[in-house]
Amino acid sequence: MTVRKIAVLPGDGIGPEIVDQAIKVLKAFEQKLSISFELEYAPIGGAGIDSNGIPLPESTLKLSQAADAVLLGAVGDYKYDDLDPAIRPEQGLLQIRKAMNLYANLRPIKAYKALLHASTLKPEIVDGIDIMVVRELTGGLYFGRPKQREERNALDTMTYTYEEIERIAHVAFKTAQKRGKKVCSVDKANVLATSQFWRDIVEAVHKDYSDVALSHMYVDNAAMQLIRNPKQFDVLLTENTFGDILSDEASMLTGSLGMLPSASLGAENHAMYEPSHGSAPKYAGQNKVNPIAQIMSLAMMLDHSFGYTKEAQLIEQAVVHVLNQGVRTYDIAEPGQAIVGTAEMGDAIAKALLELPAPVSAS
Ligand code: IPM
Ligand code: MG
Repeated sequence: MTVRKIAVLPGDGIGPEIVDQAIKVLKAFEQKLSISFELEYAPIGGAGIDSNGIPLPESTLKLSQAADAVLLGAVGDYKYDDLDPAIRPEQGLLQIRKAMNLYANLRPIKAYKALLHASTLKPEIVDGIDIMVVRELTGGLYFGRPKQREERNALDTMTYTYEEIERIAHVAFKTAQKRGKKVCSVDKANVLATSQFWRDIVEAVHKDYSDVALSHMYVDNAAMQLIRNPKQFDVLLTENTFGDILSDEASMLTGSLGMLPSASLGAENHAMYEPSHGSAPKYAGQNKVNPIAQIMSLAMMLDHSFGYTKEAQLIEQAVVHVLNQGVRTYDIAEPGQAIVGTAEMGDAIAKALLELPAPVSAS
């Protein structure tokens, strides 16, 4: 049997401890299906700076490019705050996204029934939401040049090419075809040239997808609508910065940023799976944070990169099962509920996975 290799990049802050929980669940998955993956660990972000002096060591990139998929924790820590922005931990993440051409970031936002009361919004507003944010990940303000800081001014550049917009629009429409068949494209076309360009190209690409309904929304309105009536959305298509902001906002619909996984997909089957949240250094090493975003990122990996679509759903079922049992990390607990740590949540999900009936045909 061919060896299937996963590059594991725990990173910084809470990254290592939540990645440990995802690996626990992966081991349970392997046991359940009698399969195995080869794991190889490498440093990124602050861990890369500590070991190799740079946030994305060459060996980490090579390993990731050669692997069938990459599982990433999170990057960043206060202790690097004084470094030149060009070599801070976050650059490791941006560089690996760019170098592997991971231009499509899929961030599913789903309300779990058991957590309806954990959201700061009214249960009837969040009950039933099922949104997929399709965020462009390798363009826009994050990567535009020139980018510079001087004594009395600073400059970032917002730039997009036709091809960059076209390919992410295809991803959004294809994603919508498999879901609710609606795309809402977010922009600021009343002000920005890149947004006017974006809107025109999204319209042009839409001609290939007559079964999908397309609407456009200004980003400020989208931020408001996500809170007012989130159920109106199916696929939300955004450029890089807007998607970064809106996905953090949307995560709160699910009760916690700690619930939100993501898949960053590129050409040539390159793919990296990472929680949408950051490295939360203030909680690092305390066995406190919620590992579910990382565990659900693993489930996305098993589905997208390895074709275990039905089987990966077992991981989600295991998550739902433990949530229904009332197992809660601090971020999703309601007043009076007992709180478990990161490792206990990982244990509970791995155990639930092993105990669920296996799907009939493990492919
Ligand atoms: C995310 C994060 C990153 C981003 C940071 C850590 C660079 O916020 O994945 O959403 O802005 O893309
Ligand atoms: Mg973000």
